[in-house]
Amino acid sequence: MKIFLDTANIDEIREAADIGVIEGVTTNPSLIAKEGRDFKATVKEICEIVHGPVSAEVIALDWEGMVAEGKELAAINEYIVVKVPFTKDGIKATSMLAAEGIDVNVTLVFSPNQALLAAKAGAAFISPFAGRLDDIGHDGIEIVSQCQDVVLNYDYEAEIIAASIRHTEHVRRCAEVGIDVATIPFKVLMQMMKHPLTDIGIDKFLEDWNKANQ
Ligand code: G3P
Repeated sequence: MKIFLDTANIDEIREAADIGVIEGVTTNPSLIAKEGRDFKATVKEICEIVHGPVSAEVIALDWEGMVAEGKELAAINEYIVVKVPFTKDGIKATSMLAAEGIDVNVTLVFSPNQALLAAKAGAAFISPFAGRLDDIGHDGIEIVSQCQDVVLNYDYEAEIIAASIRHTEHVRRCAEVGIDVATIPFKVLMQMMKHPLTDIGIDKFLEDWNKANQ
């Protein structure tokens, strides 16, 4: 399973990239706003750090605006993936951008039928939101998995990105069912590294080593 980092924070991206376990980054308007920096400069810097897909989202809601913004974003760096919300205009914009060879990540996907339409439009990535589905009483990862089944049944190009990942159990379940990509907050990546028995084990090894006067 590929792991993308779901953040626009440069320090977090640098640290995760240094460890060598992330293959891409996803941003959204909320994450960009949180950093308080220029949007285009930020995504350009992220591309130069990760050398993998970096999702940058359009703000326009009409397809003409989405296509125009998408082209501007794609021109920033070869790693930019244009993120487009799932709406009728979003799907039309996806078809048009994909026809020009621009990678699109269709976001705010909440059902397998939406995933099917995004795949048909030529999306490179489709992002169902696990946590927000959990929030309204669904099993988010189950629906992410259904989205991936729909795409795999017909050999569409799109990769599924499990988004709105809130905790390590989400990541484990994604890996268990073979989701293509999980995009995760930095905090969750750090939590994945921790196990109290690992810490206890290291302490015990060092204690024994020191007792033996090595
Ligand atoms: O990848 C989408 C993600 O940033 C949304 O997460 O926790 O706001 O639902 P959340």
